[in-house]
Amino acid sequence: MKPVQLGPEDERIIAGEEGETRQKMLELLVALGKVFGAERLVTIKSAQVSGASYKTIGEYGLAWLASLDARAVVPAVLNPIGMPRGCWKEMGVDADFARKQQAIIDAYDRLGVRLDCTCTPYYLYETRYRDHLAWSESSAVSYANSVIGARTNREGGPGALASALIGKTPCYGLHLTKNRVPQIVIDVRTGSRNWGFAEYGALGYHVGRLAGNRIPYFTGIRPDADQMKALGAAMAATGAVALYHVERVTPEARGHGYDLSGIETVPVEPAEIARLFTELPVDAVAVGCPHCSPRELSEIARLLAGKKVTKPFYIFTAQGVIDRHRDLVTMIEQSGARVYADTCMVVSPVMERYQAIMVNSGKALAYVPDMCGALARIGTLKDCVTVATG
Ligand code: F3S
Repeated sequence: MKPVQLGPEDERIIAGEEGETRQKMLELLVALGKVFGAERLVTIKSAQVSGASYKTIGEYGLAWLASLDARAVVPAVLNPIGMPRGCWKEMGVDADFARKQQAIIDAYDRLGVRLDCTCTPYYLYETRYRDHLAWSESSAVSYANSVIGARTNREGGPGALASALIGKTPCYGLHLTKNRVPQIVIDVRTGSRNWGFAEYGALGYHVGRLAGNRIPYFTGIRPDADQMKALGAAMAATGAVALYHVERVTPEARGHGYDLSGIETVPVEPAEIARLFTELPVDAVAVGCPHCSPRELSEIARLLAGKKVTKPFYIFTAQGVIDRHRDLVTMIEQSGARVYADTCMVVSPVMERYQAIMVNSGKALAYVPDMCGALARIGTLKDCVTVATG
C-alpha cells in the first residue's frame, strides 16, 4: 500500500509544529487515507460537521470536542443540534439537556465551526460543481454529490471536523471521477408525473434498500431540486447511497453519456411507492427533513392560510432561511404551527414524547421509529396540513 503523499506544510503539521490538535487531526486524515487507499490529500472548499446533538454524541463526544484546540481553516457548518438555541424552553427541552447541548455548541464555536446547525448548508453558502468537500450528514452529502455535482465522501463527524481544521481530505472514493459511475439502473414505470416531495421521499425509502451502497441511475422521473433532496435523503437512510444520477436531470447524467449496458436494471412500479402511504392515526406532525427550502416554507404558508392547527405541527429549517423569510414564518405561525431552527424531528429529544408522528419525508419515515421511539406515517405536505388542522 502506497503512503499518502504529504506536502511540506503537512510535514510541519505532522511534526507537531502547529500544535497537538492539528497534528492529531492530520494524523487522522492520513490514517483514513491509508485505510481507503488514498494517494494524496485534496484541498476542500468547505466542511459540514455532524455529531452535534447531545442526544447522539453524549458525554464522551462532548469531552473529546472540549479537548481540541485549533480553528477551522475553511468554511465549516455544523449539523442540526438537539434544540433550537433561542427557544429551547418553549419547545420543551429540559434544562440539563440544554446545558450540555450548549457546551457542545460552545466547543464547536471555539473551533471556528459556523453555528448554522443545518443539514442544508447549500441554501446558505454557494457550493459548486466539482468542488471538493468534506461533508458528513448523509442527505447533505447526497445533495452535494448528486444535485450539485460537487465531490464528497460521507465523512464521519470526526473526519469532517479534522478536514475543517486542516482544509483537506483524503482523495479517494467519490472524489475520483472513475468512482462516480452508475452501478444500478432504477427504471421508474409511468405514474410519477404528479409526484411531489413525499412521493420522491418514499421512492428513496424503497430504492435505498434495493441499492445498498451502489450508485443508482434513475430513468422515468423528472424531479425538481427539492424532490431530489427528498429522494437522496431517504436513499441514504435505508441504504448507503451517497451519489445518484437522474437521466437528463442531474449534472453528471447530463454531462456524461454513461454506458449502462450490463448493469442490473430494477423496475419500480408506482404501486410499490403508493403502499407506503398509510392512514395511521398520529398525535403530531413534523416536516423539514431535510431542513425546508424557502420554496417549501412558501408552500406550507399557502396551505395553512386561514387555518388553525389542532395537533402540534413542527416545521424545521435553518436559521439563515428563517432570517431571510420572516414573512413566511409569520404566516405559518399564525396557524399555531411552529417553525424551529437549529434542530430537527430526529435529533431533538422532544419528539420522543409522541406515540406516532406524521412526516412528509422518506428519511424521517426510516429514522423516527428508532430515534424517537414513535411510529411514523408518511403523507404529502397537503395531507400533513390536513391532519395537523383536522
Ligand atoms: Fe436533516 Fe435531521 Fe433529517 S439532520 S436530514 S432534518 S434527520
